[in-house]
Formats: sequence, C-alpha cells, structure tokens
Amino acid sequence: MNESDSRAGELARLFEESLSRYQAALAEATSESALRVVHARYAGKEGEIRKRLADALKAAPGPDKRAVGQAGNTALQKAEELFGSRLVDLHEQKRQADLQRRLDVTIPGRPHRLGGLHLLTQVRLELEGIFAELGFQVATGPQVETDFHNFEALAMPKDHPARDMQDTFYLRSHDPSHDPLVLRTHTSPVQIRTMLQQKPPVRIISPGKVYRKDDDPTHSPMFQQIEGLCVDEGVTMADLKGTLLYFVQRFFGPGIGLRLRPSFFPFTEPSAEVDIECFFCKRSGCRTCKGSGYIEILGCGMVDPEVFRHVGYDSEKYSGFAFGTGLERMTMLRYGISDLRLFFAGDARFTEQFR
Ligand code: PHE
Repeated sequence: MNESDSRAGELARLFEESLSRYQAALAEATSESALRVVHARYAGKEGEIRKRLADALKAAPGPDKRAVGQAGNTALQKAEELFGSRLVDLHEQKRQADLQRRLDVTIPGRPHRLGGLHLLTQVRLELEGIFAELGFQVATGPQVETDFHNFEALAMPKDHPARDMQDTFYLRSHDPSHDPLVLRTHTSPVQIRTMLQQKPPVRIISPGKVYRKDDDPTHSPMFQQIEGLCVDEGVTMADLKGTLLYFVQRFFGPGIGLRLRPSFFPFTEPSAEVDIECFFCKRSGCRTCKGSGYIEILGCGMVDPEVFRHVGYDSEKYSGFAFGTGLERMTMLRYGISDLRLFFAGDARFTEQFR
C-alpha cells in the first residue's frame, strides 16, 4: 500500500466516524429545530465534516486533492440523506400522534355567562316600537349641544327664568365667538335639528341622554329622555291626547286613563303635564301615587309659534304637538324600582333580573 492510499483510508475513517456520531445525534433529536441544530453542527458551513474536509484538502499533496474532495463530497451527501430521512420520520411520527388523538365529547364544556340588554335599553326599544306603530321615526342628536338648539330656538333666550331649572354643564369652546356649548338638558333640541333639516310632515321620536344638576334617589345628573314631535297641517291637541293614550295603554296596560293638567313650557302653548291613573292601586291611593290616584309621567303641549319662527316653518299653515318623558322614570314605574341609581351601579344581581 502506498502512502497516498493509506492517507485516503485514514480520511475515509475520519468521515465515517463523524457520520456515525452525526447519525446518533440525529436519532436523539426529537424536534425539527433540534434536528437542524445537529445538522448545522456536522454538515453545515462551520460543521465538523466540512472542517475535516478543509483540513484534509490543505494537507494533501496536489495530485491527491481531487480524491480527497470526492471523498468529502460523498460524506456530505450521505449527511444530507441522513438528515432528510430523519426529518421525514419525525413528520410521520407527529402525524401519527395527531391521528391517534381522540376527542372526549363527554367532558363538560366551559359555560359562558350570557350577556343581555340592559333594562333601560329594552324599555327604550319597546317605546320606539310602540311609537313606530303610529308612524314615528327615531331621530337622534348630539349630547353636546349649542346654546341655540338647547335653549334659544326653544324660546328660552339668555336670561329667561326657565333656564334656571336647567342651568347645568357648560363647556368651554375653543372658539369664543362660537355659540356656547352645553351638555343638553333635554332632548327637545332634536325637535329643532329635525325641523331645520326637513319640511313638514314631521313625526319623530327621539331617545337619548340628557344632563342636569340633580342627584338624589330619583334624580341623576345623567338620565335619558324620550322626545316626541308631530307637525303637519291641522294637528290638534286631540291628536296629542290620542297619541298619548295609545302609548299609555300599550305601555302600562289597557284601560288606563290619563288626564292633562295645565302647565308651562316656554316652547309649547298651551302646555300640559300628563298624569296617568295609578295602575298599582287603581286610583284608590297608594305610596306610588302618594295617595292621589294619579302619577305624573310627562310634559307636553302644542308647539309654540315662536319655535316655528326659529326653524322657518309657517305657523299659519302648520301646527304640531311635542312631548317629553324620562326613560328611567317610565321604567321605574312599570317595574316598581325605587332607586334610580340601581340602573347605573352595574350590579349584575340587579340587571340579571330583567332578561
Ligand atoms: N323638554 C321638557 C323637559 O325636559 C319636556 C317637554 C318636551 C315638554 C316637549 C313639552 C314638550 O322638561
């Protein structure tokens, strides 16, 4: 055996030895990423087999370099095959494990707590539905209102005493020449917005949040109102009363009567408070009606010509009625809820009772 043959034999053994350690390491790797680490360590650019090859190439005399290179390539090829087949094995193992997995359909599910609409939302939707039956469409407006929409156009000029009752939350405007801004104190500004936007006939119902300087068991600084407005040729107070009677009997129960008491609002003339017959005691007198047999539920009246003037309606041609009521108040009455603050406390023991 000549020198070059024995060097070749020695090199082949070195590669064999690397490959067998490589194979053992591959067998121990149980994930694809572990496999790749092993591959890099032996067959990668900086790997042991390539290093041995590079060393041998350097040491070999010129005529032997070709044979050395071939032996190295064979070893590297073998290394790739080992890697590839181990990778396939691993994937197959994983697939089998997936196929073996069984679903236990008898394990009890994790229950979800079902949500629901807040009682006030339910009642609002119901009221919208009742008025829809009479042809009223839902209209909404912003909670931050201009002085004009909230007061001025509703016949409450700057120093009108009726403002006192509602003098509440003003906002500083970025532009001092801008009309002052206020958290609306009632939903009546939606009357103005609607009439400025469209010609008669108008028939809207407008629910939404309003804000006042009030805070006790039956008053909250934030509460909701529902406004009604109907304008057309020949609308009379009889239409107002008929509409309210329909609403009261659909909402509080058939056969419940109502009465109109003269009242005052700057934007209606004549104006009235509406009382319904106490449905708890059937007018014999109880705590809810404070012994009177009647419960006050809303304010209303015929739209004042001064309001029509602000929105450009001809009050010789058109007439209309408006009314406004409190959503919380309606709800408390019907469900016998005594503390308004329960609506906003977010206590599930309360809200869950109304699903
Ligand atoms: N906006 C009045 C209030 O908040 C209620 C109302 C509305 C009265 C429409 C008459 C007409 O007290």
